[in-house]
Amino acid sequence: MATTESNPDQPDSTPSGPDAATAGADFVVVANRLPVNKKVTADGTVEWTRAPGGLVTALAPIFDKTPGAWVGWTGSADSTDDPHVEGIDIRAVPLSSAEVEDYYEGFSNSTLWPLYHDGLVKPEYRADWWDVYVEVNRRFARAASEAAAPGATVWVQDYQLQLVPALLRELRPDLKIGFFLHIPFPPYELFSQLPWRREILTGLLGADLIGFHLPGGAQNFLTLARRILGLPVSSAPVGVRTDFGTVDLGERTVRVGAFPISIDSAGVAAQAASSSVQERAAALRAELGNPRHLLLGVDRLDYTKGIDVRIESLERIFAAGRLNPADTVLVQLASPSRENVESYARLRDTVERTVSHINGTYGTVGSPPVRYLLQPVPRDELLAYFVAADAALVTPWRDGMNLVTKEYVACRPDLGGALVLSEFTGAAMELHEAYLMNPYDADSTDDAVVAAVTDPPEERRRRMAILRDQVMNNDVDQWARSFLDALTGE
Ligand code: ADP
Ligand code: G6P
Repeated sequence: MATTESNPDQPDSTPSGPDAATAGADFVVVANRLPVNKKVTADGTVEWTRAPGGLVTALAPIFDKTPGAWVGWTGSADSTDDPHVEGIDIRAVPLSSAEVEDYYEGFSNSTLWPLYHDGLVKPEYRADWWDVYVEVNRRFARAASEAAAPGATVWVQDYQLQLVPALLRELRPDLKIGFFLHIPFPPYELFSQLPWRREILTGLLGADLIGFHLPGGAQNFLTLARRILGLPVSSAPVGVRTDFGTVDLGERTVRVGAFPISIDSAGVAAQAASSSVQERAAALRAELGNPRHLLLGVDRLDYTKGIDVRIESLERIFAAGRLNPADTVLVQLASPSRENVESYARLRDTVERTVSHINGTYGTVGSPPVRYLLQPVPRDELLAYFVAADAALVTPWRDGMNLVTKEYVACRPDLGGALVLSEFTGAAMELHEAYLMNPYDADSTDDAVVAAVTDPPEERRRRMAILRDQVMNNDVDQWARSFLDALTGE
């Protein structure tokens, strides 16, 4: 693995501090990825558009009102791209290919990601990766410092940037700094494996407010701050969007809270209701041979998602004669992800072998029961699948929230469809009326899948109505507002 290259042109070496930032933004988001899409037109002109992700949708009203900046990586190694989009001051942080290997594929996705997801894959602890993680976090902190106006609010996102809050506070003590973790936060027994556990906790404590999806993650953080750093922490339970925990640093107090993320519920529902999506949904069912039961999985190809759980369950269900493979189809849409990380390459082999096995055993030449696409699907097409499916199978071994769950529910104002949901997702803490299952328990999984498609329509509708109330009344705008209000003291 190559070591970090120091590049005098990179932002580390440029001056920062309040003086350098006088023309900066009042609101700054810092995330590993920028919310931009690059398009090269036929004549070679490069066009950038805002990527329609949940976070940028949620923050759009803030960006529309105040000058806002977004600090992040374009997603390409060694890129000198300098994207511009309407309404956001985009600050690209360059990463060399060696840094992508060590910071992104290495420490972020081969150390932290598996560690924070229950150690599903054995985390690798490598000092050379750690060194680059520190270096890159420092670069993001510098870029944020340069982007922020005096007294600005800076919101740092996710596990790739856990050192940024403290590094940024050193550079800019005038800022209000928030941090939100989008993945699970593990308990003491797991987190303590990390050789740099003190540094990560100290990095996060640079924030004024640290947010997790669930009270359990917040509680884990408080326990770690007490046991590993020996800091005084509050002992009252943390509540959802209320009742924050605190860590007392002497000179200041850090608040710790739970803010379950959501989606642009009304926007997704409106897009799904459009006649083009509705017509496409009907056409999809027809293309699939109008099966009696259409099951759907939608995920990044990630070992946390339990794609294997649902395919193996379906195979047992067929073997036991509980559903008929001749009139049941599972569409699995998988989006390629982190393909240079070995555990992801292994997962791909496993999934492809499992799909092939079930199709070889239970299919006919013209109608394999599992249809598997390894490609990102355009948004309209994705929503058409949600509209068409009789059940969504969301079966992760572990997931911080799982937005696919909420997207599916938002697409079903008809109260059709049923949601099979792993208890090991953040979403399960809110969506109790889903067909909940334990991915580690084969019977529980099989029973949930079968019940979701065979329960009487009135029972399925009753459940979906309650799920919809939850998703439509708790959207990503509320998530962003509640976090930012808590951070800025409104
Ligand atoms: P994660 O953030 O771990 O990938 P989430 O379920 O929270 O998981 O969010 C995934 C997002 O990516 C959702 O908005 C989902 O619709 C989208 N997505 C996942 N798989 C695909 C795919 N194959 N094609 C298009 N979009 C996808
Ligand atoms: C999860 C993480 C995000 C990440 C996304 C896609 O949602 O919490 O931080 O951006 O997965 O992964 P990628 O590695 O492609 O950015």
